[in-house]
Amino acid sequence: MVNDWPLVGRERELAFARRALADAEVCGLLLTGRAGTGKTRLAKELLAELAEGGARTHWVRAMSSASTIPFGAFAHLLPGSADGTADRAHRLNQVAGHLTRGAEGRRLVLCVDDAHLLDGLSATLVHQLAATASAFVVVIAPHGVSVPDPVFAMWKDRVAERLDVGELTRPQTAELITAALGGRLEDGAEHRLWHLTLGNPLFLRELVQGGLDSGALSAADGGWRWSGALTANPRLVELIETRTDRVDADERRLLELLAFGETLGCEPLLRLGAGRVLASTERAGLVVSERTGRRLNARLAHPLYAEVIRRRTSPLRQRDTYRILAGTLDLTGARRAEDKPRLVRWRLAAGLPTDPQLVRTAAETLLRKDFPQAEQLAAEAVRLGGGFAAKFLLAQVRIAGGRHADADALLADLAGETVSDVQHARVAGTRARNL
Ligand SMILES: Nc1ncnc2c1ncn2[C@@H]1O[C@H](COP(=O)(O)OP(=O)(O)O)[C@@H](O)[C@H]1O
Ligand SMILES: [Mg+2]
Repeated sequence: MVNDWPLVGRERELAFARRALADAEVCGLLLTGRAGTGKTRLAKELLAELAEGGARTHWVRAMSSASTIPFGAFAHLLPGSADGTADRAHRLNQVAGHLTRGAEGRRLVLCVDDAHLLDGLSATLVHQLAATASAFVVVIAPHGVSVPDPVFAMWKDRVAERLDVGELTRPQTAELITAALGGRLEDGAEHRLWHLTLGNPLFLRELVQGGLDSGALSAADGGWRWSGALTANPRLVELIETRTDRVDADERRLLELLAFGETLGCEPLLRLGAGRVLASTERAGLVVSERTGRRLNARLAHPLYAEVIRRRTSPLRQRDTYRILAGTLDLTGARRAEDKPRLVRWRLAAGLPTDPQLVRTAAETLLRKDFPQAEQLAAEAVRLGGGFAAKFLLAQVRIAGGRHADADALLADLAGETVSDVQHARVAGTRARNL
């Protein structure tokens, strides 16, 4: 089912491509974007449309295994009898001639996928075909990699237009899920799919396929629902690891800090000496820096990276990561309101001594924002010996979460432990209102 997903969105991108094709000055299109945004899919759609309109289309996919073989990417399009002894220029003309003759007067359109892996001679051929207007070439390359010089030159010399293929929007993501499943997915799961994929069709496809394979995703009452946790399946993990594993030890450390710490200020990271790795991981498309108010923050480029990295980090290493995270906030004095609960959580996870009163205050801050976390912190404050105030807060958190019976059990215990009339009155009043 998943292989036949209908194309969703891309009207704007297709219109851009059609304009480029209609422009006599333009002989190429460079499609770029992050991995999995749908560059290949868009190009396939475009070539199918052109073939239908009478063009002669060819698809070439560059591969690292062929990147050292002259014309490796084009081997399947070339005659076996080609003159192996000819010099480079002659051979180039031979191949170009073969392709243009094969078009038999129709417009020649050539698509080169993964152009960053092209062998040198193939890259020159692509450039020559476009520069001489012998063919319209669509070249696909992911963000953050360097393409062979002749390919880059096409864009630099304005022979080719460049089109960025971004992620789908939220409504488009919902539309794609519905189209793929042939019915609507319940809101909660759709919401989570959006937050995990942020509109990346490849991640979406892998998650949905994984859900279908495991049975977590099933048809129910004329729609679809997801039971159990929505996490990355092994294939998706592997896919992401091929990106996140190409880092050195220091870069990995930064990725771990961001995976567990989420958004971090760049300032403390720079003070910890992370300047080089911030730059290199951002160049590699793994980390994004952005300005929020007066603060410059860094985060992982995709929430799924965080999930995969978190899962791969051993408990001991996690503890160590939290220790560094707590240190970064200590550096900035945890001034902002949202820093305090984070600092408390990180200190607890790092096994650092933490004042129960601080923990309770953090739980209070989160009471109306993040119920599960507020409960966790309130329980932790109780465990750390936070006494009456902590237990009373835990009961309030449970009431806020609709867990009235659990709250009452706790309040009943607490009634036996009150030491002052004021405490007694507060417990009794809360119990009465909770009933
Ligand atoms: N606009 C879209 N509508 C439906 N499916 C899409 C769309 N874009 C991509 N896909 C699907 O998502 C997956 C990843 O797309 P792909 O084109 O391979 O990404 P890229 O080449 O950018 O890495 C493929 O299965 C593709 O069919
Ligand atoms: Mg692709």
